[in-house]
Amino acid sequence: MGVTILAIESSCDDTSAAVVRDGYILSNLIANQDIHMSYGGVVPELASRAHQVNIVPVTDEALKDAGVTIEEVDAVAFTRGPGLLGSLLVGTSFAKGFALARRIPLIEVNHLHAHVLTHFIIEKGKEQRIPSFPFLCLLVSGGHTRIIILKSHLQMEVIGSTIDDAAGEAFDKCGKIMGFSYPAGPVIDKLAETGNKNAYLFSKPKVQGLNFSFSGLKTNFLYFLQDRLREDPDFLRKNRPDLCASLQHTIISILVSKLVKASLQTGISEIGIAGGVSANSGLRNAVIEEAKKRKWNLFIPPIIYTTDNAAMIGITGYYKYLRGEFSDQEVAPVARL
Ligand code: KG4
Ligand code: ZN
Repeated sequence: MGVTILAIESSCDDTSAAVVRDGYILSNLIANQDIHMSYGGVVPELASRAHQVNIVPVTDEALKDAGVTIEEVDAVAFTRGPGLLGSLLVGTSFAKGFALARRIPLIEVNHLHAHVLTHFIIEKGKEQRIPSFPFLCLLVSGGHTRIIILKSHLQMEVIGSTIDDAAGEAFDKCGKIMGFSYPAGPVIDKLAETGNKNAYLFSKPKVQGLNFSFSGLKTNFLYFLQDRLREDPDFLRKNRPDLCASLQHTIISILVSKLVKASLQTGISEIGIAGGVSANSGLRNAVIEEAKKRKWNLFIPPIIYTTDNAAMIGITGYYKYLRGEFSDQEVAPVARL
């Protein structure tokens, strides 16, 4: 029998466990935490407590779903960071305990690296394309907005980053201003479908090079809405789809223009998107359009692998296993990497 890896992800508000055998995903279970919905964002203390409750049943289910016993697991991969420290601590401690009890290797995984390797997740019996190297990936989530070059499975270089808020935060914070619960990204995406994306014009940042900024857009959106509500208290209720479509259009054009710039600068046309915001239908359509125009070989992840999941941790862990990159029991989680 080949190599079987149990993977654990607990960096933010999703508790996930997956089983990967010889580079193929056998199972991927995710427990979402609805508890944060009414708070407008993830509450760290509540997240770590929910991870504590969920981690054993989720792992148990993932093993059962894969038809794999505890004795068959050859190594445990886990998210070391970046993320919320209390949340990471739950997954790290669980992985360390599991590896110690079974006397098997422990593999730490960088959460951002794993999001990019989402494109290497393969399911047995499915016809699938995977990127070749170098691979240029736009990683957009609630905590990160980066442009990354993947030079090999284990070698990556960050060439662009946000200097303040992440793209997902722009969706979530503007959504909160409109009274939507967390996470607001999917709600805005849905409402944008019936709105006019050119109804309102919001400010775009002037950031050098391949970096991003989203805090100005959030402030612009807030002041714009306050002004309109002073004139007409019903403005928001009457214009939700147009507001969502215009906001989403602004965020997407900021993201796509930098991705195009990165591709032109590096000469790489093997392109992908990843992270929670890569589930956005407007962004998916926009990169498909660019790919046609610019002859990119484009990779868009299935929706299930856009948000945080352990399958991506497992696949990254698998490549690290092949290279013998293991951690010892001294390893501790890190909020920033
Ligand atoms: O990758 P992820 O699950 O967690 C982090 O590592 O941050 O991403 C969560 C983020 C949230 O900000 C959420 O609003 C956003 O992804 N998101 C979306 C969509 N689905 C999730 N944003 C825009 N459109 C969507 N369809
Ligand atoms: Zn993530």
